[in-house]
Amino acid sequence: MKKITVVGSISMDLVTSTKKIPEAGETIVGQSFSMVPGGKGANQAVAISRLSTEKTSVTMLGAVGDDTFGKELILNLKNNQIFCDNVGTIPQITGIAQITIYDNDNRIIIIPGANSAITTETWTQEWETIKESELVVLQNEIPHEVNLQIAKFCKANTIKVLYNPAPARKTDTEMLDFVDYITPNEHEYKDLFPDLSLEDGLKKYPNKLIVTLGIKGVALHDGTQFQVIPAIPAKAIDTTGAGDTFNGAFAVAISKKLEIKEAIKFAVIASHLSVQKFGAQGGMPTLKEIKGHENYEKKWNLE
Ligand code: RIB
Ligand code: NA
Repeated sequence: MKKITVVGSISMDLVTSTKKIPEAGETIVGQSFSMVPGGKGANQAVAISRLSTEKTSVTMLGAVGDDTFGKELILNLKNNQIFCDNVGTIPQITGIAQITIYDNDNRIIIIPGANSAITTETWTQEWETIKESELVVLQNEIPHEVNLQIAKFCKANTIKVLYNPAPARKTDTEMLDFVDYITPNEHEYKDLFPDLSLEDGLKKYPNKLIVTLGIKGVALHDGTQFQVIPAIPAKAIDTTGAGDTFNGAFAVAISKKLEIKEAIKFAVIASHLSVQKFGAQGGMPTLKEIKGHENYEKKWNLE
């Protein structure tokens, strides 16, 4: 397998569970607190690495701050066999996500810190790394201009791009011309195409636009017809990072030459397994774990 490169955010998730949300001016006692590695970029890199058989087949590009969180997050990437020699350490705070788990759902406040200071101005080795990649994976937690520049570079060099436009932000649809796959959820879809019904949007971008619909499954248009690949119901412990697991697994399946619908089915199993453990990276499965799932299809022939 040629290399996959993820360019994106690396953050520390500060997770509080509570049975109540405080009113303005109110103090309450919560249930628990944990600090776990997160950031959509890093999460997707970890998801890819867990499903890869070769060591360091995934490279991370991004930035952390010159602080303890930054050091811990780099160590976590290394422990997950991710090549991160070119992750920058810059004079900013490391990005954090303050996550409140309440009523089986999460509410997230992000402080981007170093993630929003990423610039390609000083890049040389980084462009080389991208050039050697087979697939580049992008999300919306680094500046839009950086994503666009990378997507254009990839297009010019015939490198595939998977773009997960999460979290939602008001952007133009210019990125769509330079990427091979784009994976919004329903909410992000509406931000991208405020005037297009889901079916019309999917029809316009067959086999490229993949919309994740949570428990309703994953929608795409295969060139002939509109399709929904069903989700697998799970008793969810923590849905944080389910989308990242989906994208990481999809990236691996595509790079192993699975056909798009089969790649989605594979990624659905991965995200189904991921929500059953705490933390964005907590339940991300290995290939062995996916192979042990009843929905795994032998014909995929993945090793
Ligand atoms: O997708 C989940 C991630 O989004 C979390 O790990 C958190 O860092 C937020 O950015
Ligand atoms: Na999880």
